[in-house]
Amino acid sequence: MAESVDTPYDLDAIEAQIKEESIESEEDAEAFRIKYLGRNQGLITELFDRIGDLDPEDRPAYGQRVNALKSLAEDRLDKAKQRLEREQGAGPDDLDLTLPGRRDFSGSVHPLTQTLDEITETFARFGFHIAEGPEIETDWHNFTALNFPPDHPARDMQDTFFLKDAPGDAPNVLRTHTSPVQIRVMEENEPPVRVMVPGRVYRNEAISYKSFCLFHQVELLYVDEGVSMAQLKQLLHAFARALFGRDVELRFRPSYFPFTEPSAEVDIWWADDEHPDGGQWMEILGCGMVHPNVLEAVDIDPERYTGYAAGLGVERIAMLRHDIDDIRVFYENDVRFLQQF
Ligand code: DAH
Repeated sequence: MAESVDTPYDLDAIEAQIKEESIESEEDAEAFRIKYLGRNQGLITELFDRIGDLDPEDRPAYGQRVNALKSLAEDRLDKAKQRLEREQGAGPDDLDLTLPGRRDFSGSVHPLTQTLDEITETFARFGFHIAEGPEIETDWHNFTALNFPPDHPARDMQDTFFLKDAPGDAPNVLRTHTSPVQIRVMEENEPPVRVMVPGRVYRNEAISYKSFCLFHQVELLYVDEGVSMAQLKQLLHAFARALFGRDVELRFRPSYFPFTEPSAEVDIWWADDEHPDGGQWMEILGCGMVHPNVLEAVDIDPERYTGYAAGLGVERIAMLRHDIDDIRVFYENDVRFLQQF
């Protein structure tokens, strides 16, 4: 409390009065405001006006004291108004029990991550271990060691993001697939190797409902003595049933990749009543037997060892599982879309 000042006015009494005033309604609050803080005849306004009557040396202390009274009155008024507002809002007449409650919004795992996790959990049951590699890759790992001829169209500017100012001869690239991790794993490990490689890949493609400039793949690689294409087919059948259910329809289609021989692609039947043919085949992965040139590039004897490899498109698989017809929705982060998962 401010020290008491010798003035013609009893400031202590005024302070006590401000504290005791009862404010129980909006009318009380208005009356209080006019009485103390009113511009014309408010008591505190008047106290300020009288400062000129005092001896100059008493004025600073008096001014401080009156300021404190003004804050006190304003404070009481604010608090009383807030209290009145609260009491009114909580009145039984204003309580509408039919209004929807306030929902708690919690985050959830992104649909792509969910699909990725299910894919890796499935292959983990078949003995595959996770391996990873860099997203910025050398030309050698991304192309050359994988048996891409120097003039292969995949090296073309249209597909690959080349990085400027890379040290070394060939420019580094944003990896266009997870296959270069096959090379990294075989550089570091003797057979048998059995790995799966989840990761992001990048392509310099026109963006549409079915292609985006980045997407996800899971690479598989199994190299040992006596590994066969029959084992690969069996694995992929089991995988498709685990992810899409027992009745899944799939087909192996002969294909071409520089790093596998023979090569195949696997399509899944996507039933759709609105489609004129009742649905369509949707490609979900490429696969094949590891090309002898690839084994030789990492000093593995192709006479002794064979291997199979596959690259799965995670977005494609997520689209099939959830009946999503546009890849771009995975990257828009629209909460209305994400909330459904
Ligand atoms: N890397 C290929 C792509 O991105 C997919 C692929 C095909 C991976 C065949 C493989 C494979 O491991 O054996 O289109």
